[in-house]
Amino acid sequence: MDAEPGRVVYAMAKTFYVTTPIYYVNAEPHIGHAYTTINADFLARWKRLDGYDTFFLTGTDEHGEKIAQAAAKAGKEPQKFVDEVSAKFKRAWQTLHISYDDFIRTTEPRHKRVVQLYLQEIYDRGDIYYGEYEGLYCVGCERFLTEKELVDGKCPDHGIEPEPRREGNYFFKMEKYRAWLRDHINKHPGFIRPERYRNEVLSILSEPIGDLSISRPKSRVTWGIELPWDPEHVTYVWFDALLNYVSALGYPDGEKYKKYWPAAQHMIGKDILKTHAVFWPTMLKAGDVEIYKHLNVGGHLLADGRKMSKSLGNVINPFEWSEKYGPDAVRYYLLKETPYGLDGVVSEKGLIERYNADLANDLGNLLQRVRTMVSKYLGGKLQKREPGPAEEEVVRTSSSLAARVREFVDDLKFNQALEEVLQFVRLLNRYVNERAPWKIKDEDELNRVLYTVIDGLRTVAVLLEPAMPVKMAELRAALGLGELSVADVTEWGGLPDGHRLPEEAPILFPKIETGKERSQPEKAQAGTISYDDFAKLDLRVAEVKSVEKHPNADRLLVIRLDVGGEERTVVGGLAAHYKPEELVGKKVVLLANLKPRKLRGVVSQGMLLAAGGEGGTLALLTPEREVEPGSKIS
Ligand code: ME8
Ligand code: MG
Repeated sequence: MDAEPGRVVYAMAKTFYVTTPIYYVNAEPHIGHAYTTINADFLARWKRLDGYDTFFLTGTDEHGEKIAQAAAKAGKEPQKFVDEVSAKFKRAWQTLHISYDDFIRTTEPRHKRVVQLYLQEIYDRGDIYYGEYEGLYCVGCERFLTEKELVDGKCPDHGIEPEPRREGNYFFKMEKYRAWLRDHINKHPGFIRPERYRNEVLSILSEPIGDLSISRPKSRVTWGIELPWDPEHVTYVWFDALLNYVSALGYPDGEKYKKYWPAAQHMIGKDILKTHAVFWPTMLKAGDVEIYKHLNVGGHLLADGRKMSKSLGNVINPFEWSEKYGPDAVRYYLLKETPYGLDGVVSEKGLIERYNADLANDLGNLLQRVRTMVSKYLGGKLQKREPGPAEEEVVRTSSSLAARVREFVDDLKFNQALEEVLQFVRLLNRYVNERAPWKIKDEDELNRVLYTVIDGLRTVAVLLEPAMPVKMAELRAALGLGELSVADVTEWGGLPDGHRLPEEAPILFPKIETGKERSQPEKAQAGTISYDDFAKLDLRVAEVKSVEKHPNADRLLVIRLDVGGEERTVVGGLAAHYKPEELVGKKVVLLANLKPRKLRGVVSQGMLLAAGGEGGTLALLTPEREVEPGSKIS
């Protein structure tokens, strides 16, 4: 394209396509659905803020046996039933401020058309044949399970025995593409993330995967899309459902399809890894369609140690939480609490603790304090003054923050992306305390300090927006700012000179009172020690390399540490408080010169410092900033 002289031609924004699973409408939306959808929404909002042309798709999966059974149980016509439940998902996503661009339903004509088109295409290419099939079918999973997948003869996800079935089906020649798929995964290391799931898929692919039954006879299932060449069969629900990712874009010639495919990032939970990592790419390959870019696999949220699910009936209701504490508190908590890809345990108590610590205390109080000072000392108006040496750390951290957050987000480390911003908020708190504006007489100096903090909060408001869209709009309002993007906060000092803060602003994060009296901290011992006594302790920063359960004690974990080149093993009573995988990579504090001792057969070379415990939350101490393993603590 030639540019007209004198006219700026903007480069086309890069495109980004993010999807959630389309959820089964056999029951109501629950926290697991909310979790995946919030993760996807976070990613979509971040990419939009970061200048990408972004398309975010969610929807509902409405065909198949499981849905037909649920409709029958509710005494409703399937279509009426799915209309009702699908509407509940839409309402749920409204409550949680999910910014989807499209909501696809598999009972829509635009979807059925594509499924039939695609089936015919593969059929014509010779990749579908008719055969007899015998196997073990789990209606919960809506697929045949292999013997290897069973635990005590039962489906591990649904806790029921799959039923033996034998019937005439059409088959997709999936096995034919196995070698190609292995090769594709090997050549594209980021195709399935995090790593552990990639390995799981490679292990599935190391043995024959067989062909995939893609139809059900109408004699048994009628609630589905008819095969275009044989109306006595309906399409198998997974073959139908997976195609939503392209039908919503208007495959094969829609504008959106051309624009956003294959830049797709599918966000799923680990329960549907095989369908997305094996069925879907081979289906695409068979139709000669480009393969999606990334499959991002989330862990499960657990209640009572098992996956929360409709079939198990152990579901926590995030929509109630949202009503009580606001949607942003729920979003923030779910994003921050669990590293993406790992299982997590969530509770209302956990939400309140996280909210009070990070949001009410660290962020909310800071805003309140500096707004008051700007109003009291400066009449609400800030003069921009160049930073001096005392501002060096804040300026440096602030200017590089967006880039670090971007890196974490691109790596799917959403919790770390948020923690990085919170660390900056804590730095701002320390900066205010150290600079103590209430003691500063010089007006230039006062402006310098308060401008620096407000400018820092401006950066925070942008970088936390993908997690908390409502609250960060409120924060911007409290700072007298309009909409901003990531590009506006890549340097210190974007706040205009002479900027005015609005006079009134509501409290951003009112503390959640739990009604319970806080337990009194134990009185400090009367006896004192000398500095020399303290100096006897060799306290060091150590990095956790690996963690295993203790072979002989449920309570204990065996933790291998790097103490600046030296390797140490420590046994600690942490099993009730941390999952092994949660600890790996953490920097912790080690009492290194404690006499080694054996704990249930394993030698422990030191002790890790922790706070709390005794029936309450136990927290390992970690250095507040990046320091090398082995660093001495004094
Ligand atoms: O599988 N923790 O739909 P589904 C975290 N229709 N996430 C959870 C969860 C939990 N305890 N329980 C469910 C289907 N999820 C198919 C998908 S896609 C083409 C078709 C989330 O209603 C997680 O993302 O059973 C999981 O993959 C998804 O809900 C399954 O939703
Ligand atoms: Mg499910």
